[in-house]
Amino acid sequence: MSNPFKPNDSAIWQELARQRDLLQQTSLSELFAQDTDRYARMHASAAGLTLDYSKNLINSTTLDLLTGAARSSGLQDKIAALFSGAHVNTTEDRPALHTALRDFTGRSPHLAEIEAVMAQMKSLVEQVHSGEWKGCTGKAITDIVNLGIGGSHLGPMFATEALAAFNDGSVNCHFVSNIDSEDLSSVLSALLPDTTLFIIASKSFTTQETLQNAKTAREWTASIAKTEADFGRHFIAVTSRPDKAVKFGVSRQNILPMWDWVGGRYSLWSAIGLPIAFSIGMDNFNRLRRGASRMDQHFLTTPFLQNLPVLLGLLGIWYINFWDTRTLAVLTYIHHLRYLQEFLQQLDMESNGKSIRIDNRPVDYQTASVLWGTVETNGQHSFHQMLHQGTQFIPTDFILALTPDSANDSHHPYLVANCLAQSNVLMTGKTREQAQADLIVAGQKLARAAELAEHMQMPGNRPSNMIVMEQVTPESLGALIALYEHKVYVQSVIWNINAFDQYGVELGKVIGNRIYSRLTEDDYADRFDASTEALISLYRKVNGNRS
Ligand code: F6P
Repeated sequence: MSNPFKPNDSAIWQELARQRDLLQQTSLSELFAQDTDRYARMHASAAGLTLDYSKNLINSTTLDLLTGAARSSGLQDKIAALFSGAHVNTTEDRPALHTALRDFTGRSPHLAEIEAVMAQMKSLVEQVHSGEWKGCTGKAITDIVNLGIGGSHLGPMFATEALAAFNDGSVNCHFVSNIDSEDLSSVLSALLPDTTLFIIASKSFTTQETLQNAKTAREWTASIAKTEADFGRHFIAVTSRPDKAVKFGVSRQNILPMWDWVGGRYSLWSAIGLPIAFSIGMDNFNRLRRGASRMDQHFLTTPFLQNLPVLLGLLGIWYINFWDTRTLAVLTYIHHLRYLQEFLQQLDMESNGKSIRIDNRPVDYQTASVLWGTVETNGQHSFHQMLHQGTQFIPTDFILALTPDSANDSHHPYLVANCLAQSNVLMTGKTREQAQADLIVAGQKLARAAELAEHMQMPGNRPSNMIVMEQVTPESLGALIALYEHKVYVQSVIWNINAFDQYGVELGKVIGNRIYSRLTEDDYADRFDASTEALISLYRKVNGNRS
């Protein structure tokens, strides 16, 4: 699919740059003072989420121009193309059909395959929860260990933790991703092989970290698993390469499929989401899918000015391309959403961290910014200083739930108050005059108050979005994830880049394998740059010098 939209060459882009110049002469506080209906006009709701975008450096002209840019990029057709199974992943010449995995209309592409895998997941979850699935020593499974990385880890880990309140205690789920053996051993040290079931989650079944962890897990299980049948009671695989999983030793009936029409970082809706289903049950997993489906319908059918993913995507473009921002802070005021930033980092930066357009030409504008952040008030006692008074201009997304997971939680109003205070202070700041007056009231002499006021003034005028849900439920979480998935797609369309490949991660894997051989084999011929060679020599010296 070729996209003729070239942002920098478009008249609308020039107009947006002029808008930025105009808005630089005003402030968020002034914009609110001029328009008492600003919140009413600048919030939108869908699928149980409300997006308050009124604290952004925009006015109605900005929004008209940004949605105009979206129209010029052909966004509406591109959204339809995504859902219909067109080959939106142009370099790999395939669709990106994560939306089909949560389509309940009965008309989705690949319906039969999706229904079959959901039935397989349901059966597995029921067997394990009921205790019918026994380990090879006859004991019921108490612990699931997911071995996967990237998209085969982050989405399942994030959603499982986010929905911990929905775990009925049938099994505990653990996640191991890193090649550092400490990751696996620290999880296994608290478990028994008899009652542990591993999921080897790898779309490609070639990923070094996952395969190495799976090998070590198999060795750990060998104390009880003496035959292939024994081993089969403790290992399941999710992969698009069942041949490789069988070769590894997983029995064919324990392999759940993945497909090349689902990208790794968009795959938690597939059998890659099995740990989520083990943790919260299949009914709740389906509620998660339904929440995402509601956001999908909203994205497909809602005019851009009320369309949450479109608005979020356009606001990101506004700051990245016109206000030169280089990072986006995501601040979650919900404890169980503590892996959201890690999940979004892959989703956003692996999707849109690109510099070549779909028409094979380099971009001449910025694309994805660095996404970072943390959970709850921890950040306030750490990096928020820089958000408020640093020289960098950093837009922020706040995520908030209006009710806590557990009833009668007396901490929750404090949490909400902190979240709202941060977005308010980022916007309003404090003038030097206010700071000086406060100091004088507190007893400071005028001269000292004038000096200190320089340090205590806060520029304010820092934009933020507030994404609010009533409570974290499978539905609201599904909608939140789909919101960010589609936001990323909106931006990729306007930037005219392919959000669904990740060639940038491949070279490091190849070189990593060659350096591994150089570290461990005496006669390996490859040589690297002088710095890398010196570091290899250091390693070999410390580990018994075989160089
Ligand atoms: O890091 C690159 C990557 O290919 C991701 O895109 C993917 O989610 C991850 O590796 C894991 O891949 P696999 O599921 O094939 O093991």
